[in-house]
Amino acid sequence: MEFSDVEQDLTEIVLTEDQIKGIIADLARRIEADYADSPPLLVGVLRGAVMVMADLARELRIPIEMDWMAVSSYGAGTQSSGVVRILKDLDTDIAGRRVLIVEDIIDSGLTLSWLQANLATRGAESVEICALLRKPDAAKVEVDVRYVGADIPNKFVVGYGLDYAEAYRHLKGVAVLAPHVYS
Ligand code: PRP
Repeated sequence: MEFSDVEQDLTEIVLTEDQIKGIIADLARRIEADYADSPPLLVGVLRGAVMVMADLARELRIPIEMDWMAVSSYGAGTQSSGVVRILKDLDTDIAGRRVLIVEDIIDSGLTLSWLQANLATRGAESVEICALLRKPDAAKVEVDVRYVGADIPNKFVVGYGLDYAEAYRHLKGVAVLAPHVYS
């Protein structure tokens, strides 16, 4: 879906499809350099990370494996609750593996700090994080994120995996949602 298809629901473009492509290519080059000797297990966090996982994985020119987790930290609203539940766990035994968590966005940081700590208890050799977007002004906890695509303002954004009440995930870029949609 293009910005123009939901123009009245958006107030500001944050990243275009082309900008995202460039950011993902840059992330991929850094990851390739760091994981040239031992293939990472990319762990995508459903559902928001589907787009970034699909594009990042295809951009990577080294061997990788993929697995998925589903966790829940938000309700249907726009604020993080801080309550994290595992809805779907990994199928992979990560003992001794180099794990790279792939996320669409770090908002408060609560989800990823919890997830990184959880995976670290399973005997992984390393647990790093790659997030396409980060909102520095929304941080409630410090998260050690090795790869960040872009820092963005603390506004409610949708697109490229990010939803509001399950809508807008298939928007090709990222944009700020107009308040009239959720108020
Ligand atoms: C979003 C996003 C992260 C989390 C970030 O997921 O994908 O997992 O929120 O927020 P935090 O830094 O404040 O914890 P969400 O729970 O909305 O689920 P979704 O991926 O299915 O959209």
